[in-house]
Order: sequence, then structure tokens, then C-alpha cells
Amino acid sequence: MTDTDGLNAMLPYFGRLVETRDIASEIKLMRVELINGGSEAFGEYQPGQFVFLSAFGIGEAPFGIASIPAHGEVLEFAVQRLGSVTTALHEMGEGDLVGVRGPFGRPFPMEVMKGKNLIVLGGGIGGAPLRPVIQTVLESREEYGYLTILWAARKPSLMIFRDELDIWREAPDCELHLTVDESETGWEHDVGLITELLKQVAPSPENAITITCGPPIMIQFVDLMLSEMGFTPEQRYVTLEARMHCGIGKCGRCNLGEKYVCTDGPVFSMDEVEDLLEGFL
Ligand SMILES: Cc1cc2nc3c(=O)[nH]c(=O)nc-3n(C[C@H](O)[C@H](O)[C@H](O)COP(=O)(O)OP(=O)(O)OC[C@H]3O[C@@H](n4cnc5c(N)ncnc54)[C@H](O)[C@@H]3O)c2cc1C
Ligand code: FES
Repeated sequence: MTDTDGLNAMLPYFGRLVETRDIASEIKLMRVELINGGSEAFGEYQPGQFVFLSAFGIGEAPFGIASIPAHGEVLEFAVQRLGSVTTALHEMGEGDLVGVRGPFGRPFPMEVMKGKNLIVLGGGIGGAPLRPVIQTVLESREEYGYLTILWAARKPSLMIFRDELDIWREAPDCELHLTVDESETGWEHDVGLITELLKQVAPSPENAITITCGPPIMIQFVDLMLSEMGFTPEQRYVTLEARMHCGIGKCGRCNLGEKYVCTDGPVFSMDEVEDLLEGFL
């Protein structure tokens, strides 16, 4: 893992874009190959960790890693176009160079999750850091319990990884439920908030862990519902976003009470942060 105490953690590796393609409206999958070192640091990155990608001359921004090492050395990111850095990344093509700083952050406790039923709830671009959790479970299917995926977006055209959903749906001991706030032509799945879907699916808290990532309002209401369904704070994991600058616990930009989202998180169990989230989400 990257030396988060030293200056090295502020120096990016060079990465080359080996593929970039649209996976939803204004969201691109960017596949990056490291070209001047970094293979040691990235040899064992884990689901839930993130990097800073830089567009040279423009700036850098944090992104969850959306791939797993078992699928090869190329790192994958789902990047939604918002402002200057993400627009610059969207305008790049295959062969272009980016900076890659990381991997940072506390990952999902995949060891703790072994043998447990997992309920994964992803909303919009928040699904990006959840894809490696799903991939890890599908790679080592016998080590985890039943997998329930609730996947949501504002509109079908904003739903990420649609070309992989059939693989998830057809995987053993796995069920996938899709919903959008607003339908579009050809949509054949649920329409409504993810909380309505969660109520319908009604997963059991017995021997289960939930993992939620999405817009703050979604996290807030999903977490409340999970709590009402009987999932204890220790069973409920979230991955949080915050404004970040350094990513290594030095700049104080990403405070959550006494904690730093960049180093203590971005993955937290609710028993660690429940009291701190008011005003943060
Ligand atoms: C740990 C972590 C993981 C992330 N993973 C992903 C990912 O996988 N894919 C992805 O597309 N994005 C991800 N993001 C968000 C991404 O970092 C921002 O979209 C990016 O910084 C925007 O940079 P920009 O220069 O394009 O836009 P800016 O010009 O910086 O901002 C554009 C707009 O977005 C708002 N904004 C910027 N950053 C954030 C933020 N962190 N939270 C809320 N609002 C913000 C700004 O207020 C502004 O309105 C992640 C953020 C964090 C902290
Ligand atoms: S981003 Fe600098 S302390 Fe977290």
C-alpha cells in the first residue's frame, strides 16, 4: 500500500488510458495502465479504496477504484462528468497520460463479510466502488453467503455497468433488483425510489451485512430503513464522499468529527459514524 506518511504519497504514477467508453450518460469507464511504477502499490488494492486521477495542467480528483486486481493490472474507474477535472478526463482518448495517486483509504472488510449474506445498495455513480465488492464475491462465490443487489439511478440512461447486469443477475446465489426514479422508453424494471424497492425486497438481517453507496440523501434514507428493518449499526456499512485535497490525512479537508474520510474511511460501519453524520450527509 502507498506510504501515506511520506511525500511519495503526493507524487502520482503515470498511467496510460488503454480504453475509454461510455457506460451511461456523461459517465465513462476509463481503463488505466500504470507505466512508471506503481505495480507494487497497486498489486493488492482492495474493494472500497480510491485514487486521485490527475489531468495534467488542470487538476486532480478522487475516484473509487471500480476493478479488482484478480482481473488484471489495468485499473478501472467510472468517471461522471461534473466540472473541470472530470471534463478534462472525459475529453481524453486512448493513449493519453493521466496521473494516478494511491491507492488510499480503508477498504471494505471483505474478510469480515465472508460467510455472511450481503445486501449491496448502489445509487448512481455511487455504484462504482461497489462493483469490486460484487466482483470479489462472484470470484470467490463459495466464501460468501447470498448476494442481494439493489441497483438504482435517476434514469435508465444514468445506470452504470448496464452491460454487466445480466452476469450479476445470473450468478449463483445472487439476485439483482433495478429501479429508476424516472422511466425512459424500453425500461422494464421498477420505477421508484430505492427505499421502496428495499421495502419490497425486505432482506433479512440474520447473518447479514449491508453496503450502501450513493448520493447523501439516498444513504440517509436507506440507512434509516435498514435500521428500522433490524440491521444493527455494526451490520450497516457505507462508503462516504467528502471534499478531499491530500487523501492522506494531512490537510484536514475531509473531516467527519474527529475522523478523516480519506484515511479512517471512506468505508465506515454505522456504529463508527452514526452520531457524526448529521450535517455531513
Ligand atoms: C472517495 C471518493 C470517491 C469518489 N469516487 C468517484 C467515482 O468513482 N466516480 C466519479 O465520477 N466521482 C467520484 N467521486 C467524486 C469526484 O471526486 C468529483 O466528481 C470530482 O472531484 C469533481 O471534480 P471536477 O473538477 O470535475 O468538478 P469540480 O469543478 O470540482 O466540481 C463540480 C461540481 O461538483 C461538486 N463536487 C465536487 N466534488 C464533490 C464531492 N466530493 N462531493 C460533492 N460534490 C462535489 C462541486 O461542488 C461542483 O458543484 C469521488 C469522490 C470521493 C471523495
Ligand atoms: S483529504 Fe486531506 S485530510 Fe483527508
